[in-house]
Amino acid sequence: MTTSIPGEPWSTGVARDGSGALVVGGVPVARLAQEVGTPAYVLDEADLRARAAGYRRAFETAFAEVGAGVDVYYAGKAFLSVAVARWVHDEGLRVDTASGGELTVALRAGVPGADIGLHGNNKSDEELALALDHGVGRVIVDSLVEVERLAALVRSRGGDPAPVMVRVTTGVHAGGHEYISTAHEDQKFGLSVTARDGQDSPAMTALLAVLDHPELRLLGIHSHIGSQILDPSGFEVAARVVLELRAQLARRTGVLVEEVDLGGGYGIAYLPGEVALDPDRIAKDVAASVAAAAADLATPLPRFSIEPGRAVVGPSGLTLYTVGTVKPVRVDDETERLYVSVDGGMSDNIRPALYGARYHAEVVGRLSSAPSVLARVVGKHCESGDVVVHEVQLPGDVRAGDLLAVAATGAYGRSMASNYNLLTRPPVVAVRDGAVRTLLRRETVDDLLALDQG
Ligand code: LLP
Repeated sequence: MTTSIPGEPWSTGVARDGSGALVVGGVPVARLAQEVGTPAYVLDEADLRARAAGYRRAFETAFAEVGAGVDVYYAGKAFLSVAVARWVHDEGLRVDTASGGELTVALRAGVPGADIGLHGNNKSDEELALALDHGVGRVIVDSLVEVERLAALVRSRGGDPAPVMVRVTTGVHAGGHEYISTAHEDQKFGLSVTARDGQDSPAMTALLAVLDHPELRLLGIHSHIGSQILDPSGFEVAARVVLELRAQLARRTGVLVEEVDLGGGYGIAYLPGEVALDPDRIAKDVAASVAAAAADLATPLPRFSIEPGRAVVGPSGLTLYTVGTVKPVRVDDETERLYVSVDGGMSDNIRPALYGARYHAEVVGRLSSAPSVLARVVGKHCESGDVVVHEVQLPGDVRAGDLLAVAATGAYGRSMASNYNLLTRPPVVAVRDGAVRTLLRRETVDDLLALDQG
């Protein structure tokens, strides 16, 4: 059997021991399965910390070379728990949150409000009030209505003006291998920079509205262009558009905003042979292009920030399953596919069903010498779209009881998990130097029953 271990898409702490069994963070998978059960999300703490620090260092170094400062916010939507918020904060990152729940977890971790940003296209009054209560460093406003609501809230409470960024859409939309620079922005986020019918653009209108309110302090402009981006040019195009808007606002009002956020979206490897964006390279390219844009516009550079989520936590995570039913299915005259059912599925990883996302899996409890066969890893849900890994070569002798791991599930796995079919959501455990620590425990049926009012 061939194995991609060690190497991408696995975390750096993944290896096979002498018997061919997988070890992660110094912990053999058999021990993990015994101690915490399956399915389980396993996070390689050292790998996650190194990726967080790597992004911070790469951007700090590259931006310092062009004379700009930069802050790195970890996008908690990818996966947030108290421990993970602490780790990334220890590594010098701030935390980007997208709801009152994420904000509360970051605060519980002891991250100071000043190091937290709050996003959301439809924040509730309670969420805005929570942000103000804890002095969050920035509220990223997403509509003109929100500008008014936030100003009214500050007015009613008294206190310092709220620090605000305005989220704009630059017409650059990127994700996967797709990249369209002329997009007509038909989606719910942000305010378009495109002016129409002789009117100010929605983005300009919102920036002016923020400046008009003494209850708000305009920190800067925010742009997020997409996710799982592997073609870096979109970041550079979007950055230039934002810097142009900033210069336009300065010409109009004399106010040159201090900060520009370029969002997240840095792509990772999900399959062997896929190449992740290299933080050092992308940081250098983006720094060079913002420096060139600022020079063209004859404006000094702002302080920048970025918001990687997936690139920090995705590759550090794997999901450990136990194989149950194995069933050969004749697809046509030539092809047979082995359907390998595991003890989880679309409730712990919705991405294949939702986005057609591709993953890589291996049998990890042993090294098999059986010839490999074409297999599809499926879950245990009552739905034929319940696919975990669409297509993968697995040893022909894969059988019930085998441990199977799926690589690179750290981002948007647990954070998008559900209780479909009333499955209980798996635990998230951290491994490091041979030790196992539960970050989120496994849900129990009692947890589900506790919600049921009879
Ligand atoms: N900042 C903002 C404003 C965002 O909306 C996002 C992601 C990020 C940062 C982090 O993006 P990342 O670096 O993780 O790509 N559920 C989808 C991804 C949705 C991303 C939404 N926004 C998935 O599983 O692929």
